[in-house]
Amino acid sequence: MSQPDGQNNTLDNLLSESRTFPPSAEFAAQANATAEWYDQAAADREAFWADQASRLHWDTQWDQVLDWSQAPFAKWFVGGRLNVAYNCVDRHVEAGHGDRVAIHWEGEPGDSRRITYADLQREVSKTANALAELGVGSGDRVAIYLPMLPEAVFSMLACARLGALHSVVFGGFSAEALRSRVNDAEAKVVITCDGQYRRGKPMPLKANVDEAVKDTPSVEHVLVVQRTGEDVSWNSGLDMWWHEVVDRQSENHTPETFDSEHPLFILYTSGTTGKPKGILHTSGGFLTQAAYTHDVVFDLKPDSDVYWCTADIGWVTGHTYIVYGPLANGASQVIYEGTPNTPHEGRHWEIVAKYGVSLYYTAPTTIRTFMKWGADIPAQYDLSTLRVLGTVGEPINPEAWMWYREHIGGGTAPIVDTWWQTETGAIMISPLPGVTAAKPGSAQTPLPGISVKVVDENGTEVGAGGGGLLVLDKPWPGMLRGIWGDDQRYRETYWSRFAEQGYYFAGDGAKYDEDGDLWLLGRVDDVMNVSGHRISTTEVESALVSHDTVAEAAVVGASDPTTGEGIVAFVILRGGAGEQAGGDQAVTALREHVAREIGPIAKPRQIMVVPELPKTRSGKIMRRLLRDVAENREIGDVSTLADSSVMDQISAGLNTSS
Ligand code: WTA
Repeated sequence: MSQPDGQNNTLDNLLSESRTFPPSAEFAAQANATAEWYDQAAADREAFWADQASRLHWDTQWDQVLDWSQAPFAKWFVGGRLNVAYNCVDRHVEAGHGDRVAIHWEGEPGDSRRITYADLQREVSKTANALAELGVGSGDRVAIYLPMLPEAVFSMLACARLGALHSVVFGGFSAEALRSRVNDAEAKVVITCDGQYRRGKPMPLKANVDEAVKDTPSVEHVLVVQRTGEDVSWNSGLDMWWHEVVDRQSENHTPETFDSEHPLFILYTSGTTGKPKGILHTSGGFLTQAAYTHDVVFDLKPDSDVYWCTADIGWVTGHTYIVYGPLANGASQVIYEGTPNTPHEGRHWEIVAKYGVSLYYTAPTTIRTFMKWGADIPAQYDLSTLRVLGTVGEPINPEAWMWYREHIGGGTAPIVDTWWQTETGAIMISPLPGVTAAKPGSAQTPLPGISVKVVDENGTEVGAGGGGLLVLDKPWPGMLRGIWGDDQRYRETYWSRFAEQGYYFAGDGAKYDEDGDLWLLGRVDDVMNVSGHRISTTEVESALVSHDTVAEAAVVGASDPTTGEGIVAFVILRGGAGEQAGGDQAVTALREHVAREIGPIAKPRQIMVVPELPKTRSGKIMRRLLRDVAENREIGDVSTLADSSVMDQISAGLNTSS
């Protein structure tokens, strides 16, 4: 059973977790979803999803819910036509909610902007007119390399309005990472800003774009938002200021209507090889599942709730649960530009109190950081408005879950531990607040309309108490429609492992407890999860070996109390240089090199210079053994090593150098 090494002990601890927290009668009575939804969806899945699709405005009604005849390429709501941006903006204004706040934007230095749905309609229309003027039309790609500014939302929705695909690249990625993504998607326009505020200081961003676009033949324009006012270098052939191009546009723009399967966006994510995959999502099915899940998982009441998802817009959580889900549902939400400890460690709670946030969605790694800072910090703020708390990105340990409930949720707020992926588009497994008796650490149950299985290596389902691999055995509306430009990789990555059964292989290990609740156990492939971000071991290895001094590199994810996993690299330097003395300098240079190649998030926590790497006779690196070293454990079974003395050499080298 290929289970993530070192998870077994944790698993036993997890499975001894027997506390449950049933919803209060009061919460249950007002909840958006009820237990009957599970039965209804099970009785007729397609009818259930057809009902969910009626949350949207369709210009043309679909005539078939699902066409799976070209599996694994799905078509949902076949024949239907809609405009995604119209659904997220205009229809709320037309329904009389133009004065409702769509976005309470809070800048890191304390500046703020209040954007109503009517404002949003004007801003998105102007941005769409500007992009059209720059030659962007249906099917074109636009790269968005922006931090958490309202313009990121305007840009995404403007693309949707025009039928252009956005490819948002996380602002923490390097110039090199941006360049390869822009080129893979052949983006026509890049939208960026001069800089962003991080930890109290303006940090340049445009410089990375300048570097990237030296080698991006498809790019015709770079649109630059002014945020920090810092000096930037200017490329007059490409660059244009946002305020010069967008501000003069008309506030009216008539949205076109597009097929339900019209592509909406590409979002790159790490795979098991070095090359990131451009995950492709389309319109009608994605928006249906985004709206449905945001409504039932957070129990959203659009006219009274204030919702806040702390994710960055550069990740899928920002796409589905900052932009598309909440706006399709007409929610009021907070968007915050900065870091949680600027200018002080109570910043999030200050924002919750300021706006009366009632629904709060964050990552386990952030919760563990708050725990480290201490419960006395949130205790200084009025958090009484919070009524649902969510987590996403990695398994949450029961201790963090309990702390979250106790110190943030006042001991009463239901917690929703939501499992999903860039590829699934929206939440798949989660408790329903007001319905599910929650269990700390378990994501528990597939949502109504979603079907999952835990299977063994042969694809046979395991029963209660059994562990194995998580698969999705039935198509779902928000599912990816492929990998941009690489159908073959799409089939191989997700559909080849259980081709016979036709299951989607998620890449995660999972287990059922005796009650039949699901526990997610982390990745079973070579993808690490660092602070909820997916980074492949191969990607970091290729960055390391691209440095002059490195002969060979192996990277593992070692468990880390705050970030979930930390990146630990083992490198062999060329000519044996710097094995002991001089190693520190080499290591610092390598960490910087990885940050430059991929981005600061991929910087190894630790780099160990070693004389050899443990390999099997067929030359495969045995990461399991390296993980033992990285986690300071006794080294496991070395009998399959080609040279069994290698681990001794590694240990001896590390002891002398420390
Ligand atoms: C992990 C983020 C356990 C999992 C939305 C998955 C989780 C990967 C959970 C996707 C959770 C996400 N419990 N593990 N609640 N949520 N994961 O594409 O390994 O950035 O495969 O999407 O994160 O990461 P991605």
